[in-house]
Amino acid sequence: MKTISKIAGMRRWSEAARAKGRRVAFVPTMGCLHEGHLSLVRKARREADLVVVSIFVNPLQFGPKEDFKRYPRNLRRDAGLARREGCDALFVPSPREMYPAGYRTRVTVEGTEEVLCGRSRPGHFSGVATVVLKLVNVVWPDVLLLGQKDAQQAVVIKRMLQDLNAGVRVVVCPTVREKDGLAVSSRNSYLSADERRRALGLSRSLFLARRLVRTGERRAAVIIAGMRKVLSEAGVTDVDYLEILDAAELTPLRRLDGDVLIAAAARVGRTRLIDNVRLKV
Ligand code: PAF
Repeated sequence: MKTISKIAGMRRWSEAARAKGRRVAFVPTMGCLHEGHLSLVRKARREADLVVVSIFVNPLQFGPKEDFKRYPRNLRRDAGLARREGCDALFVPSPREMYPAGYRTRVTVEGTEEVLCGRSRPGHFSGVATVVLKLVNVVWPDVLLLGQKDAQQAVVIKRMLQDLNAGVRVVVCPTVREKDGLAVSSRNSYLSADERRRALGLSRSLFLARRLVRTGERRAAVIIAGMRKVLSEAGVTDVDYLEILDAAELTPLRRLDGDVLIAAAARVGRTRLIDNVRLKV
């Protein structure tokens, strides 16, 4: 595995791969690699000839009161994991390399600030869209792999790449969960033992929603009321949102129909967690 920190070096690597007719799959990450990321790398291996993983904690997608400074970073561990999963190139640019002095451009996908995490994290998705477009312009992949856990992020990135004719196929992979159901996330490392127990309320509320849908319930309000009860019983009181939406358009649904996203966000202690389930109704 080659570790590359410069944009020019990454470009050369990608151009050489392309010149040999090799297809490139790309997994963008902010590091602190966990089973969710590694499942994307494994899928990437099956989707293309070569796999690039990027590790870059993107300052543009953190709000002023968010956890940019304390976001977990461990490049040596991450590099070992990426190598073991068969990553071919690890791209680890510095903030200065990505955003040199004078940098001024942002990409915005209209409408993303009005729903789900966009409401409580102004600027977050434009930060994500911007860095992903920059990374795609450097790595030049055929296929990009993202996790379903960040459902809104996947919708925003897909829209942006399609709207800007990037010619990159996006594959969204299922959320990886711990044995007890908690969605795997880098931010789980912030949780104390008690918070970790309470955080289970999130996945439990979503599993309840899924059971209700499977047994024929179609009223969003009824499902959300059930979810709210599960969260409150688990001791999760600081709920940011519980929403039922069309999975592709992210428009709210009153009755469940078609490709449905049930999404939840809550703060447990100081940690904001998100999770969702996607259902064909
Ligand atoms: O999901 C993440 O880790 C980040 O939002 C991403 C896609 C790597 C962009 O910084």
